[in-house]
Amino acid sequence: MLAIKHGAINLCRGFPNFDGPEFVKEAAIQAIRDGNNQYARGSGVPDLNIAIADRFKKDTGLIVDPDKEITVTTGCKEAIAATVLGLINPGDEVILFAPFYETYNVTLSVAGANIKSITMRPPDFALPIEELKSTISKNTRAILINTPHNPTGKMFTQEELNTIASLCIENDVLVFSDEVYDKLAFDMEHISIASLPGMFERTCGAVAALRAPDSYFVELKRDYITKRAILVEGLKSVGFKVFPSNGTFFVLADHTPFGLENDVAFCEYLIKEIGVAAIPSSVFYLNPEEGKNLVRFTFCKDEETLKAAIERMKKLKK
Ligand SMILES: Cc1ncc(COP(=O)(O)O)c(C=O)c1O
Repeated sequence: MLAIKHGAINLCRGFPNFDGPEFVKEAAIQAIRDGNNQYARGSGVPDLNIAIADRFKKDTGLIVDPDKEITVTTGCKEAIAATVLGLINPGDEVILFAPFYETYNVTLSVAGANIKSITMRPPDFALPIEELKSTISKNTRAILINTPHNPTGKMFTQEELNTIASLCIENDVLVFSDEVYDKLAFDMEHISIASLPGMFERTCGAVAALRAPDSYFVELKRDYITKRAILVEGLKSVGFKVFPSNGTFFVLADHTPFGLENDVAFCEYLIKEIGVAAIPSSVFYLNPEEGKNLVRFTFCKDEETLKAAIERMKKLKK
């Protein structure tokens, strides 16, 4: 609301300000015209489940039963809610890595989970292995991970995933793996934790379902890498400290060079005085204090919008 009131350029939420691809729009129109416009099977139209299983096999080498092991949901939030509500009972302990996508906390709270948050810190938001080892136990029911990661753009490394996997196996813990940005992995290979030895049986994973030629994903990445450079270099040039983003379309920056008391005050100033909207990062932590120096920007906007936002931010004073 504040962003609209002040005519701010919106770099908050992760939705592109350009149209989706023509072939997706055409396929949707064609499917509706072909009669696919009534109730569908609750767990997914069989052809779609098969296509998802094929893609998952191509990406991970894993063979998944399209009927019994794939459920199509309306977006990832629904998948997360169904998984958490289905598998977490009141009082069950669940480990989260902060910063985290806000929905996790809300959904886990609805399920009555006992949430244990482990904080990944800048500059690289590495997994705090010792803290994880001392937190996880036979009382832990599940760990929730997200790679590529919102809001940091971090991608969990093979070593980090191996560590999580071996601790989960040792303690008989489930993994809920949000991989909704798996096709937006820019600088390293995306790894599904389900593909690690012994993990398939204990992982519930979410991926975005889009059947498209490989060339589409290559182009998509190329475009996002270009946009990422415009935003990251622009933010650095106006004085932010910017942390590396290897995937997703988000980047975190340290706003403290501009002297505002916290992330909320900074974002209000940015909207009202500069005309750009970003997300205060305290919303991504159980303890808001931990996010008070950070602000999240998105680069899923056209180049003109990103350049205009940087132009406005040149007015920021250190
Ligand atoms: C990490 C992550 N998971 C899930 C979602 C939600 O996905 P959907 O819009 O498909 O429900 C988002 C959206 O921002 C996200 O960033």
